Amino acid sequence: MIYTLDKIAPKDYEGNIVFLYGDETAERVLPLGKKEIALVKERREEGRDFMLVFDRLPYRLYFLSFDSEKEAAEVQEGLRRRAMDLLKRFEGDGVEEVAVCGAGTLPEEVAALLEGLSLADYSFDRYKSKEPWHLQRVAVDKVYFKEEELEAMQRLWNRIYWCREWVNLPVQDLNAPAFADELAAIAADLEGVKCTVMDKRQIESLRMGGLLAVNRGSVDEPRFVVLEYNNLNDNEGPICLVGKGVMYDTGGLNIKPEDYMQDMKSDMAGAATMASVLFAAADNKLPVHLVALLPLTDSRPGFNAYAADDILTMYDGTTVEVVNTDAEGRLILADAIAYAVKNYHPRVIIDAATLTGAAVRAISTFGIAAMEQNGRRELEMLKLVGEQVYERLVEFPMWKEYDELIKSEYADLRNCGTTPQAGTITAGKFLAHFAKETPFVHLDIAGVAFFSKAQHCWRAGASGYGVRLLYAYLQMQ
Ligand code: BES
Ligand code: ZN
Ligand code: ZN
Repeated sequence: MIYTLDKIAPKDYEGNIVFLYGDETAERVLPLGKKEIALVKERREEGRDFMLVFDRLPYRLYFLSFDSEKEAAEVQEGLRRRAMDLLKRFEGDGVEEVAVCGAGTLPEEVAALLEGLSLADYSFDRYKSKEPWHLQRVAVDKVYFKEEELEAMQRLWNRIYWCREWVNLPVQDLNAPAFADELAAIAADLEGVKCTVMDKRQIESLRMGGLLAVNRGSVDEPRFVVLEYNNLNDNEGPICLVGKGVMYDTGGLNIKPEDYMQDMKSDMAGAATMASVLFAAADNKLPVHLVALLPLTDSRPGFNAYAADDILTMYDGTTVEVVNTDAEGRLILADAIAYAVKNYHPRVIIDAATLTGAAVRAISTFGIAAMEQNGRRELEMLKLVGEQVYERLVEFPMWKEYDELIKSEYADLRNCGTTPQAGTITAGKFLAHFAKETPFVHLDIAGVAFFSKAQHCWRAGASGYGVRLLYAYLQMQ
């Protein structure tokens, strides 16, 4: 989709128009006739969120009324979600080009609608013989943004597009080496971004016991990708972004039964999210120092696959008893987190991971399960921006009592709890062990990374959830 800025005079614009109507404003600014105004007034009595479509042959006027008096984040999220209905109308009407303007409407409200259009217009089309319908062009009234502002937003939305595309790609076409190559190619073209790709031999010499164990049942080699972007002159250390990159999660020898394996191509969404955030920050030259650490492998039961009862020695020397090979994400993340601690002295480590089914059971598909260790300030900031962009966090406790549940008889830790209770927290606790004293925030995105059916402004499939959250957090730095 192409966005442009234009001077749009809604009364005599020759084209399809979306007219955003937030506040009651002077009737004379409305591109409506007397009868139409009466109709709008009548509808406003019943409630403020509605759409009226007026014929302006050969064009149409989509008059989108919304309630601007609710809390700002609610108003904006409402507009994001209504973008989906709007798109469906466009498709039905055969409308591929629209202009967006309004009255009684703030720039951030217009931005939310545009963002919603961008999110809702995405579908995973690569394997379809016939290219599906998409909205082609949106002209935005230039009273709302400067050129540079609209461009910056579009660069972010483009990164979200690619994040979703990667997550939707099946492992047959995006395995660990292929994903690493793709990230390296993007980094090579992006000013200020450095990419290091470690292959299996380098991972072996680093002794990343977790990543190597998970990879043992696979024909495809693992990769450990480190992306760095530094646009800051201080000595506080980088923000480290660690992303779970399980390219496919079969469960390993504890193979996923029935239909539990379905959609597990999305188990690398954490890695896709963190790479996308770093690229977006570089695109828009945010003044931050970031390091993304992405352990990549699929998890399969083939060859010499790692087994329950195996005891692994991790990158930092911690020993881990494998109790269930399906708790693989924390093993590869642990190595990446320990690597960040040892090599970067980070100001904070934030990880994103489709880590536990328990997170989905606890809060469904409506937010992120979050935890912290020495990272109170960072988590509070993330919660705050999460409410603003409506990619929300709910905090789970990290009480010391949970530590007991991941202690092993035979090793330092076990890779899942002694009981299935609090599975999301024991996973977070496991990761926190490897962060040591470094401020650490864990984001379990299992519920939100991939929707098995359409929801709000997302069609079924990868959502890119978390990219806007972390980008907004970086903007606050
Ligand atoms: N990738 C899964 C978690 C998951 C489940 C993500 C559903 C998205 C949707 C993870 O590797 C896993 O299998 N976790 C196990 C852990 C258990 C064996 C301790 C789980 O949650 O069942
Ligand atoms: Zn698993
Ligand atoms: Zn997994």
